[in-house]
Amino acid sequence: MAKSFIVFMYMISLLLHLPTGASPATPRCHEDERSALLDLKRSLKEGPEYCYFQILLRGNYRKLESWKLEEGQEGRNCCSWSGVQCDERTGHVSGLDLSNACLYGSINSSSSLFRLVHLENLKLTFNNFSFSSIPPEIGHLSRLTVLKLAGNVLTGEIPSSFGNLTRLLSLDLSVNQLTGQIPSFLGNIHQLSELDLADNKLTGQVPSSFQNLTQLSRLNLNQNQLTGQIPSFFRTLTRLSDLDLGDNRLTGQIPSFLGNLSQLSALDLSFNQFTDQIPSSIGNLTRISTLDLKHNQLIGQIPDSIMNLQKLRYLYLSSNNLTGLLPSQLGSLIHLEYLDLSSNRFHGPIPSSISHLSNLTNLDLYSNNLNGNLQFGMFYRLKRLQSLILSLNEFSLLPEPNTNESLPMLMSLGLASCNLSEFPDFLRRQNNLTFLDLSYNNISGQIPKWFSIFVYMMFLNLSGNSLTGFPQQSVFPDWKQLLGLDLRSNQLQGPFPVVPLATTQFYFFSENRLSGTISSMICNTSNLRVLDLAKNNLSGVIPQCLSNLSSTLTMLSLHDNNFKGGIPEFQSSTCSLRMIDLSSNQLEGPLPRSLANCRELALLNIGNNMIEDTFPSWMGSLANLRILILRSNRLYGPIMEPQSDSVFPMLQIIDLSHNAFEGFLPSKYFQCWKAMRALNISGLSYLGESMTIPLTWLQGLIIEDYDYSMTIINKGMVLNYDKILEYLMVIDLSSNNFTGEIPKSIGSLEGLHLLNLSHNLLIGHIPPALNGLTNLEALDLSHNNFSGEIPQQLTELTSLTVFDVSYNRLSGSIPRVKQFNTFDNSSYKGNAGLCGEPLSKKCAGPDNVAPPAPAAGDDHEGSNTLLDNFDWKIILMGFASGLVIGVVLGQGINIGGDNLFVRKFGRRYRRRRA
Ligand SMILES: *[C@@H]1O[C@H](CO)[C@@H](O)[C@H](O)[C@H]1NC(C)=O
Ligand SMILES: *[C@@H]1O[C@H](CO)[C@@H](O)[C@H](O)[C@H]1NC(C)=O
Ligand SMILES: *[C@@H]1O[C@H](CO)[C@@H](O)[C@H](O)[C@H]1NC(C)=O
Ligand SMILES: *[C@@H]1O[C@H](CO)[C@@H](O)[C@H](O)[C@H]1NC(C)=O
Ligand SMILES: *[C@@H]1O[C@H](CO)[C@@H](O)[C@H](O)[C@H]1NC(C)=O
Ligand SMILES: *[C@@H]1O[C@H](CO)[C@@H](O)[C@H](O)[C@H]1NC(C)=O
Ligand SMILES: *[C@@H]1O[C@H](CO)[C@@H](O)[C@H](O)[C@H]1NC(C)=O
Repeated sequence: MAKSFIVFMYMISLLLHLPTGASPATPRCHEDERSALLDLKRSLKEGPEYCYFQILLRGNYRKLESWKLEEGQEGRNCCSWSGVQCDERTGHVSGLDLSNACLYGSINSSSSLFRLVHLENLKLTFNNFSFSSIPPEIGHLSRLTVLKLAGNVLTGEIPSSFGNLTRLLSLDLSVNQLTGQIPSFLGNIHQLSELDLADNKLTGQVPSSFQNLTQLSRLNLNQNQLTGQIPSFFRTLTRLSDLDLGDNRLTGQIPSFLGNLSQLSALDLSFNQFTDQIPSSIGNLTRISTLDLKHNQLIGQIPDSIMNLQKLRYLYLSSNNLTGLLPSQLGSLIHLEYLDLSSNRFHGPIPSSISHLSNLTNLDLYSNNLNGNLQFGMFYRLKRLQSLILSLNEFSLLPEPNTNESLPMLMSLGLASCNLSEFPDFLRRQNNLTFLDLSYNNISGQIPKWFSIFVYMMFLNLSGNSLTGFPQQSVFPDWKQLLGLDLRSNQLQGPFPVVPLATTQFYFFSENRLSGTISSMICNTSNLRVLDLAKNNLSGVIPQCLSNLSSTLTMLSLHDNNFKGGIPEFQSSTCSLRMIDLSSNQLEGPLPRSLANCRELALLNIGNNMIEDTFPSWMGSLANLRILILRSNRLYGPIMEPQSDSVFPMLQIIDLSHNAFEGFLPSKYFQCWKAMRALNISGLSYLGESMTIPLTWLQGLIIEDYDYSMTIINKGMVLNYDKILEYLMVIDLSSNNFTGEIPKSIGSLEGLHLLNLSHNLLIGHIPPALNGLTNLEALDLSHNNFSGEIPQQLTELTSLTVFDVSYNRLSGSIPRVKQFNTFDNSSYKGNAGLCGEPLSKKCAGPDNVAPPAPAAGDDHEGSNTLLDNFDWKIILMGFASGLVIGVVLGQGINIGGDNLFVRKFGRRYRRRRA
């Protein structure tokens, strides 16, 4: 139930790509190559603003300074220029290393670079070359043995002229945006021993020509979009020592022939869709030190043969569907440093042999079914342990043994959902904690004063307890590195305890009993990214100074409080807010026009306030706005037609109900809301934010998932969407004073699930064109002045679960086929002219008789209420990250159990590893 969890990174792989300096060169250089180099210099810009690693590391932006036109003997000899290397015998330029040199410019087909045909070694990694694609002229450099173009924002396909580079030993095109399939030219490059195409957008299968790459020792295809199975010729690539196919879309079993690759020291198949069991032949990889199979769909037990892997240092099996007991022989893998078995279905106790893993630094057992008595003494001998995550299991924690020994000083500790009723005593000696997760326990009372010992604390999660408050405000000022506090769902009282720390980015304090006003001290937290104070008793005005934070703030959630006054302005031109929820307060005044600066805004909910304004057509320029809820305010006037066609392009949920809008329905807007035409029902992901919170390098990232939520009121039912399906589409214009007819254009919004136009002054016929709304699940036209018959075409709406045309002036017979068999009389009452089932009034005359209904399901006249028919499904999902209630519309949504978990993490974070 803890919302936050940890992902371990090894180290940022980019660092491994750092250039090594070129060795000094003495020979005289050739005039044509000198002028080619000078032409190259002229075509490029150089400066700190172009450094690839703006923050992490500064590049060397003075590399081209020594490349001079006519200055003395030394200046003329290009062999002495920085980054240039010449062949000692011939004087030809044989090496060029301009890696991480803060260069900007274009390298196209006519670049003088391709005149340097004697190049053997070319390294241009991590610059800002906007060669949109790799020019085919690269094939001119046929003597190349080493070519490194990583990190240059290259796009387009890999040109087939690479096939000319038959001498290549090492090729690195990683960290670009290359597309298309991997060409088969590599079949020509027999000597290749290192190939790195990681972090591109390559598609298709691993080409069969790779079977010719028998010299390959390092193959990295991580983070692409490759599909298919691991081809069987891999069994012959026996020189492979490092194979990384992680983060693709590979399927099938992990082939047992991988056990043949006896030189492997690192194997990464993580973040794919591998199924079935881990083959026992994996135990043949006796040299392996890193085995990463996380985030697949593997089942079964950990094979016994894994105990043969006596060199293992890093074992990652998390986020699969592995079962069984943790084998006690795990304790024989004495070199293990990282053991990550989180998010599986292992059961039973932690084997005591784990205490033999004396080099273990990280143990992650998050979210399994592990149980039994847990004695912390078993970790005392793990002197190097830094991170211990036991959250979301079924352990019974025993008190600490009474010895001189104690837990090593940890940096991360996760004990979420461990039935703790008080803060464990040993925490008092864990001064070095940077991450502590005690969420979803039963801890009550105040946060103790001794929490001030956590001077390195970066992220503290105490959500889902019964904590009432803080000792004094003096606890936090000692925490100089605090990034985030999660205290959601407690019983905190008193004022919001602002921590005036410049470092703090995340405040999650919703669902407490905080009262009083928000101190404007909040505005001293200059890095604030999330302020979540929803569902408290806070009052007063929202501090105007929050607008100064809008360049860092991404989420502002203050709903369900008692805030008064106006909505603050968001003046900054760099507003980064993506989510603003101020609903259910007592805010008044107009909508601040400065909201139009918040170009990232995806959700705006101001519902249930006292805002007085006209329709905010000026928000039409917010190209990312998906959800706009202005329900129950004092908005008034007609909705004018938009000036352009390209307004609200992403809008999928709009709720303007319970206001005082008047005039015609905005028919041209119905044409503009293009997102609602999409019939994308493929995914099961939810709208929200996935925030990555970096801890120290050794510890990795915390991923804090935050789902968007909203409330929609329909037929008096309050529907709480604690999660919003990514493609849910809703128009609610009910309870206004709209007049005129329903425009036909609404029939083009094929993706729509819910349309509510009830309680208006609409007239005319119900347009048959509504049958275009093929996804519609709820249609409410009640309490208007519609006349004429119910069009037969509506019976084509096979997803329709709720249908209400009561209290209009409709006449004629009621359609009685398909879905319409399921609607009872409450859908139709208050229309004097309607007749036939399910109403008791018979239709007069043989011509008017409704088609007979099938006998079954025809017996609920008068018995069912609309609520009974209103088949909202409540789906409980026990995600690893929390038990969450999602309410989705009843039909048409296939909740496949298969990879809910995987989808949950569909909003994937960027991930790097060595
Ligand atoms: C391939 O290399 C040869 C020299 O080895 C060169 O003449 C030819 O132009 C190159 N082909 C391409 C397509 O670059
Ligand atoms: C492998 O190399 C041989 C010899 O160069 C070549 O004939 C063959 O086509 C290559 N195979 C593939 C699949 O590229
Ligand atoms: C590889 O593993 C399998 C299954 O564990 C075993 O039968 C086979 O003998 C092993 N092969 C080698 C070459 O060690
Ligand atoms: C533990 O780590 C240290 C330092 O990295 C190393 O020297 C030692 O050999 C390791 N011990 C084991 C059992 O792997
Ligand atoms: C505690 O953290 C400090 C600062 O990071 C470090 O210098 C010290 O070695 C740590 N102590 C232990 C026992 O790990
Ligand atoms: C609709 O208009 C009538 C008459 O002008 C007015 O009395 C009523 O309050 C309006 N209703 C809404 C919801 O604005
Ligand atoms: C895990 O296995 C169970 C039982 O076989 C199955 O119901 C569930 O869908 C699987 N989950 C995943 C994520 O594969």
